[in-house]
Amino acid sequence: MSIVVSGIRPTGKLHLGNYFGAIRNFVRMQEKDNCYFFIADYHSLTTHPAPEDLHGSVKNVMIEFLSCGLDPEKATLYVQSDVPETAELYLLLNMNAYVGELERCTSFKEKIRYQPDNVNAGLLTYPTLMAADIIIHKAHKVPVGKDQEQHLEMTRTFANRFNRLYKVDYFPEPVAYNFGDNLVKIPSLDGGLKMSKSENENSAIFLNDPPEVIRKKVMRAVTDEGPKQVNQEKPQAIENIFALMKAMSEPSVYDFFNDQYNSMTIRYGDMKKQLGEDVVRFTEPFREKIRQLYADEQYVAKVVKLGAEKAHASASKTIREVREIIGFKTF
Ligand code: TYM
Repeated sequence: MSIVVSGIRPTGKLHLGNYFGAIRNFVRMQEKDNCYFFIADYHSLTTHPAPEDLHGSVKNVMIEFLSCGLDPEKATLYVQSDVPETAELYLLLNMNAYVGELERCTSFKEKIRYQPDNVNAGLLTYPTLMAADIIIHKAHKVPVGKDQEQHLEMTRTFANRFNRLYKVDYFPEPVAYNFGDNLVKIPSLDGGLKMSKSENENSAIFLNDPPEVIRKKVMRAVTDEGPKQVNQEKPQAIENIFALMKAMSEPSVYDFFNDQYNSMTIRYGDMKKQLGEDVVRFTEPFREKIRQLYADEQYVAKVVKLGAEKAHASASKTIREVREIIGFKTF
C-alpha cells in the first residue's frame, strides 16, 4: 500500500483544473492507498488573505472535497494548520534548502511577477513547506497537476539531502502522480495555457458555478474566425476548447466537432453550446452535494476533527523520529 499525500490552497473555490489535475485522482486513490489530503492554509498566507475570509475559504474547499466523493472514512482529510508538526519540519528543512535553488524555482519567479509588492520569505520557501507537507507522512505518491512537477522535484531533493546529511534511509522519494500517466494541465477559457483561480475569474469554471454562469463563460471563451485550411493545426485558444471537450464530453461528440474543424465546416457557437451543456451536466452532482453539505455544518466539523486526529498521529511520529535523527535529545 502506498502512502499518498496532496494539498490544495484555499483561495476560493475549486475549478475544473483542480478537479481533473488532482481531485479525480484523490477519489480513485482513496480506495486502496493510505491517503492524506489537506487544505493548504499555511501556504495561502503567502498572498495575505483577510482573516475574516480565511475560515470561509477553508470550509468551502473542505465541502467541495467531500462533494467530489472524498470519503473521510477512507482518506484522511485535514486542514494543514491543524497539524503544526508540518511547520516544525518546514523549519528543519529550511536549514538545508539553499536560497539559490529556491530563487530559481519557476513558481517563485511567476509569483513575484504577480505580486511584486509582497515578495515575502514564505513565497521563497514555498517549496520547502510543500516538501514538509509531503514527507511528514513519508509519502510515495503525490497526485498533482502538471504545474506542480518542479515542486515535486525539489521535494525529492530535500528528502534525499536529509537522508544523505544524516546518513539515514528515512524519507522515501515521492513522485508526482496521475492515473492516466501524464500529468494533466486543464487550459483556460481565455486562450491561456492553464485554468487558474488567481487570474481572470471568467476564464475558469468553478465546480459550484450555477448552470447559467457556466453557459455564459463557455459561450464567451476565446475563439478565432475559423480554420483557413483543411486539417490545419489548431491555434492555442481553439486547442483549449477541444481539450475541455475531451475532458468533459463523450468521445463521439469530440470526434464530431474535430471532424468539422478539419473539414472547415465548424461553427464555434454550436460547439460551445454543446460544451456548455456537457459541463453543466458533468458538474450537476457536485453542485447538488455542495448544497447539501452547506446545510450540515456539524458533519463538516466532525470530518475536520477526525482528519486532524489522524494526520496528527502520523505527523507526530515522523517529527519524533526526525528529532532523534537530527540529534535533539530530551534531558
Ligand atoms: P493549487 O491549490 O494551485 O492547485 C491544487 C491542485 O490542482 C492542480 N491544478 C491543475 N491541474 C490541472 N490543470 C490546471 N489548470 C490546474 N490548476 C490547478 C494543481 O496541480 C494541484 O495539484 N502548491 C500546491 C498546493 C500544495 C500541495 C502540497 C500539493 C501545498 N502543499 C503538497 C501537493 C502536495 C498548489 O498551490 O496547488
